[in-house]
Amino acid sequence: KFEENMIKDEDIEMLHSVVSFRGVPMAKMNVENWEPVEYFQARHDDVVLATYPKAGTTWVSEILDMIYNGGDLEKCQRDTIYNRVPYMEIRIPGMPSGVDQLELLASPRLIKTHLPIQLMPESFWEKKCKVIYVARNAKDVAVSYFFFHQMVKALPDPGPWDKFLADYMNGTVSYGSWYDHVKGWWEKRKQYGILYLFYEDLKEDPKREIKKILHYLEKELSDEVLEKIVHHTSFQVMSKNDMANYKTIPNDILNQTNTAFMRKGEAGDWKNHFTVAQNEAFDNQYQEQMLGTSLHFRTAI
Ligand code: A3P
Repeated sequence: KFEENMIKDEDIEMLHSVVSFRGVPMAKMNVENWEPVEYFQARHDDVVLATYPKAGTTWVSEILDMIYNGGDLEKCQRDTIYNRVPYMEIRIPGMPSGVDQLELLASPRLIKTHLPIQLMPESFWEKKCKVIYVARNAKDVAVSYFFFHQMVKALPDPGPWDKFLADYMNGTVSYGSWYDHVKGWWEKRKQYGILYLFYEDLKEDPKREIKKILHYLEKELSDEVLEKIVHHTSFQVMSKNDMANYKTIPNDILNQTNTAFMRKGEAGDWKNHFTVAQNEAFDNQYQEQMLGTSLHFRTAI
């Protein structure tokens, strides 16, 4: 449970530090004691939800929990989303780590991670776990990540938008380059049987995408339950759901006074933030970085 004044001033510097870990910029706090993550014991019925930050993790977490609870709203209200779908590699002073939390969780576990694929514990592949990856277009992620940095005390101050955008384009923000992340997971999707989804597809037709998830998980739900899940996990409804909108986290840890965690929930909000010059520079980088990959974002640029 997050409590007010939980994060001590002396921990802030450490929490703000992003270090290069096996070539990936990562929060120092999360990688300092890596063994529990590296040797994480997966269970065969674990379901992993992997994303680059801000790609719709919370949204799909809620969808998965609803699926696993047969669309029972009351059961999904049993706890906050970060306890129902724990964040594997997170370490916050004074709290059980994500791994500790997961070890105590009954099966089947729903597990959230932002790790690039090369840092994933081997055990998930050995146990042939179901793994869902959600990708979101690079520009909307940049904007969403910028606002998120302003909210989260444990993340470095992003500075003004142009500085943050430069850091993001240089791949020096926590979890590194968006390009490496989305491409890394894409390239291994067949080898590991990963279901690769797109935020924009979910926006366009949530029912169709939830059906894809059901099929992948080898689960069946009635149309009525499916409709209920679509409704309950819509941006409008989830924003008001305190078990999903992070409002249970005190302001001094996640400050939602200026911007809500459930900020806009749209595809294409980047158009309100990128200048023409920033957009041009971004498009050039995008073309270079995505050259030769079969990964295409319909609404990316
Ligand atoms: P915006 O900042 O663009 O609004 P994550 O959960 O990976 O941190 O991603 C957060 C982003 O997903 C935020 O994007 C948030 O508003 C959006 N989001 C959360 N729930 C959503 C939903 N039900 N539908 C659409 N977008 C949602």
